[in-house]
Amino acid sequence: MVLKGRKIGIIGGGKMGEVLLSGIISHKLASAKDIVVSDTVAQRLEELKKTYRVRVTSDNNKTVRQGDIIILAVKPQNMAEVLEGIAGAVSGEKIIISIAAGITTKFIETRLGKSARVIRVMPNTPALVGEGVAALAAGAKATAQNINVAGQIFDSVGITVVVKEALMDAVTGLSGSGPAYAFVIIEALADAGVRMGLGRDIALTLSAQTMLGAARLCIESGKHPAELKDMVTSPGGTTIAGLKALEDGKIRATLMAAVEAATLRSKELGSAK
Ligand SMILES: NC(=O)c1ccc[n+]([C@@H]2O[C@H](COP(=O)([O-])OP(=O)(O)OC[C@H]3O[C@@H](n4cnc5c(N)ncnc54)[C@H](OP(=O)(O)O)[C@@H]3O)[C@@H](O)[C@H]2O)c1
Repeated sequence: MVLKGRKIGIIGGGKMGEVLLSGIISHKLASAKDIVVSDTVAQRLEELKKTYRVRVTSDNNKTVRQGDIIILAVKPQNMAEVLEGIAGAVSGEKIIISIAAGITTKFIETRLGKSARVIRVMPNTPALVGEGVAALAAGAKATAQNINVAGQIFDSVGITVVVKEALMDAVTGLSGSGPAYAFVIIEALADAGVRMGLGRDIALTLSAQTMLGAARLCIESGKHPAELKDMVTSPGGTTIAGLKALEDGKIRATLMAAVEAATLRSKELGSAK
């Protein structure tokens, strides 16, 4: 058990809370008896208890008192009331990990006390299949060791990077919103295959697996994507004809504009809090 001896509390047993719970247990980072989950929905707690054999409670304060590492997995709009409710139970030793989009470490520290060790994380939905990427940013009092502990949790559902908190909006614009861009590209390629005469199922399989395979090749070979592209682009061949059409459609500028628009929107939503 990597986090052996450390007890984990998860506040909010929704989609992301369950993804993390499942990753922690399946990777044996902690045993079920050392994990407690709280949520407002009793039925949800019963389901989680039955599936993962973890302890459950409707009392967030109990979760905080029993946990050394507390994961806040509630919606951003519920964060203020949750923090207000648990502030009295948080001591300086506990590591507080928040995955709530747009909620700053300062927002949390202001409500939990200046000595709170807070880490903000931006995960993404491919964590559901163990292929997520999460960016971690340390609050004022979180140590490198605290970041390392949090990283182990998110490594169980994908990979992790560490960034300065000021870059969290850019992370949101790229990897947070990114799965949606990828789904549109996969769907569009499948449509294109259908247009060229392929059946829908086969076109979608070819499209999705091509995106997955290209991404794996890029990551596992360590080669620059331009080099991998050049390897499949022969002079006067089919691929360069396709690439010319992509360039005519301004694919690079369009993707840059998408990430910029999402980053700015993330900033806008954050400053409205
Ligand atoms: N899903 C994603 O792809 C994704 C990606 C990156 C970050 N995030 C972040 O992850 C967080 C959770 O998202 P999610 O999709 O997992 O949401 P979700 O499925 O709605 O889960 C949140 C859970 O917390 C419960 N809850 C609400 N108020 C509570 C309280 N006061 N005490 C304890 N539990 C409470 C909710 O119950 P009710 O249903 O009764 O409200 C719900 O079961 C969000 O802050 C989001 O920004 C999500």
